[in-house]
Amino acid sequence: MKKSFAILSGKGGAGKTLLATNLATAFAEQKGNTLLVDADFGLPNAHIMLGVNPERTIDDYISGKHSFEEIIHKVSPKLSIVAGKSGSSVLVDLSAENGTKIWHGIQSVSENFDYGIVDNSAGAENHTMSLSCIESTLVISLVDLPTNFLDAYSTIKIANQEHKIKDFMICINHCNSLTNARKVFDKFNAITTQFLQVSLHLIGFLPKSEKIEASITSRKPFYHNKKNQEHSLIDSIMKNLDGNAL
Ligand SMILES: Nc1ncnc2c1ncn2[C@@H]1O[C@H](COP(=O)(O)OP(=O)(O)OP(=O)(O)O)[C@@H](O)[C@H]1O
Ligand SMILES: [Mg+2]
Repeated sequence: MKKSFAILSGKGGAGKTLLATNLATAFAEQKGNTLLVDADFGLPNAHIMLGVNPERTIDDYISGKHSFEEIIHKVSPKLSIVAGKSGSSVLVDLSAENGTKIWHGIQSVSENFDYGIVDNSAGAENHTMSLSCIESTLVISLVDLPTNFLDAYSTIKIANQEHKIKDFMICINHCNSLTNARKVFDKFNAITTQFLQVSLHLIGFLPKSEKIEASITSRKPFYHNKKNQEHSLIDSIMKNLDGNAL
């Protein structure tokens, strides 16, 4: 695997799964074999947004029923998913150990993939951070609201202080232009770097749009619609993740 990305937010509903599924679709189409792992144990829905119904889920791996390789579901020739299970019982214990176990699973198949993307649950629980902070680039989906700022800040603080992560990629959701994204980013960056020794990098933005809403209803990633502005916004987020931030 060349690179892996962990999508986080702090606050729920900030657009992590939207970003993770569309980025995974983009990486698979443009860059190489991509594995999307749904590590949202409470309410997994990456497979719903991708329009697939995998028979096996991450529970089957955690419980020891299947190997990690056996739970991988092919979405398209270059895109695969490890899906979560709604109402999972074996994952009630959301321990750091489970996070590490999933990471070992990803490592066991890493030579089959160029890119890995992990969609996480809201918050900065032990399992989320232990999975996200091993060798992954951290991507934060941020919405311009005080509650979102506070929760994203807390997530960054834990990643920095407990896992020694210094660089964070920021994607602004519900934002209508790069100019506004920069304003939101600058505001969040000023607050964060006042207290923490971290470097934040703006990698792009997504608007709040009806096309995005419609893509969720139809269970098809909006990235598939090449004519939309949203398609090129995901392309530029992908390029910034693979190269330099804006
Ligand atoms: N840019 C957007 N345009 C339109 N709707 C959006 C956008 N971003 C988020 N939404 C809406 O918010 C909902 C939550 O988005 P998403 O599931 O990606 O967030 P999340 O951070 O993964 O949430 P959770 O923490 O619950 O997993 C979506 O189902 C969609 O209705
Ligand atoms: Mg989600």
